[in-house]
Amino acid sequence: MAPSRNGVQGRFLALLASLFLLAAVTTAAAIPAPAADQSPALDTRSLFNIALPILPCFKPTVRKEWSKLTSKEKKAYTAAVMCLANKPSIAKSIPAAVHRYDDFTGVHNMQTPDIHFVGHFLPWHRYYLWAYEKALKEECGYKGTQPYWDWTKDAETMPGKSMSQFDIFSGVDGFGGNGPWVETTPEQNWMGINDRTGGGCVTDGPFVNMTLNVGPGADYSTRNPHCLIRDFAPEKFKDNVGQDTINEVIQHKKYEDFAWRLEGLPGWSMKNFHGGGHFGVGGLLGSMGDSNNSPNDPVFYLHHANIDRIWTQWQEKNLIPRILDMGGPIKAFDYSNQRAGNVTLAFKIGLNELAPEIPIAAVMYTRGPMLCYKYE
Ligand SMILES: *[C@@H]1O[C@H](CO)[C@@H](O)[C@H](O)[C@H]1NC(C)=O
Ligand SMILES: *[C@@H]1O[C@H](CO)[C@@H](O)[C@H](O)[C@H]1NC(C)=O
Repeated sequence: MAPSRNGVQGRFLALLASLFLLAAVTTAAAIPAPAADQSPALDTRSLFNIALPILPCFKPTVRKEWSKLTSKEKKAYTAAVMCLANKPSIAKSIPAAVHRYDDFTGVHNMQTPDIHFVGHFLPWHRYYLWAYEKALKEECGYKGTQPYWDWTKDAETMPGKSMSQFDIFSGVDGFGGNGPWVETTPEQNWMGINDRTGGGCVTDGPFVNMTLNVGPGADYSTRNPHCLIRDFAPEKFKDNVGQDTINEVIQHKKYEDFAWRLEGLPGWSMKNFHGGGHFGVGGLLGSMGDSNNSPNDPVFYLHHANIDRIWTQWQEKNLIPRILDMGGPIKAFDYSNQRAGNVTLAFKIGLNELAPEIPIAAVMYTRGPMLCYKYE
């Protein structure tokens, strides 16, 4: 079968992009790095490894929206997640981890201060999702791809529908629903979430018996067996994950502006779909609202896949410059570079024992041979 015109064009563009990238990284490597925690130079092999990931792959896998999966596909996904939670931990850097699912939460926990409100928030989470999807496939025999949750579609059905009625929270073939109501004190409400509706352990769906051992909070050394908790906050959810917020984010032309606006600020001073998804599902007491340990809720990975999809859509609006466009602070909130510089394509991101350290350049283009996926 002859490749379609678009396919050929796409591959040509990607090839061109790889040459640009090689040039960009060579230049970056020639300039001494300002920050101590950035590798000063790259050898030829690293350059080759950087150029390689944006050469086009031929058959990207397709990540689909959760509600587009068949009931059988949905169950295969959640069963693979439970399979990870039944395999022993291998991450020595996370003493609290008991199983493979804990390994992932633990790595996110440990790196939380360094991977949020920084330039590499998006590439780090893209790499993290890729490693998770790989574990589901290679360690648990999962045959599908990482699904995403297009929350905007669900938010549009509110207030007619309640969050518990969303496909994704089905107790039959979804992630299970809200936890039962638990009272909180005003001091606990540091995030100003007054519309919370749950707070207890999830009572239906495939994760009712899941034991999570990492968290709460920043401690990743002490084993603390607990359940998956949800605390739906429907107003916070609806107000933050709409198309209006997406439009505001994607209008920015430079990556650093786009990425800054995407993450927004802690609190609700500006609409923010990243926070809307986390606190809309996790409220005050839920797993998704615990910033270090939010991957304890398996829905985390579908929420972040949608954020990754929005980055991909933004990149595809102007592919070549945008798969080479990286910036934003190395240190959290350091937008005025008081403590360090900005990240570049050569900046290294890592996942402890989950996957090797790589330069950001390796995950800029989802259709390269390493990542090799696209969104439907
Ligand atoms: C959870 O455990 C109970 C009690 O052992 C069992 O009846 C139930 O089927 C389990 N549910 C799931 C989804 O594993
Ligand atoms: C980091 O990026 C900001 C925003 O583009 C820019 O103003 C600043 O000069 C950059 N800092 C360094 C050290 O290059």
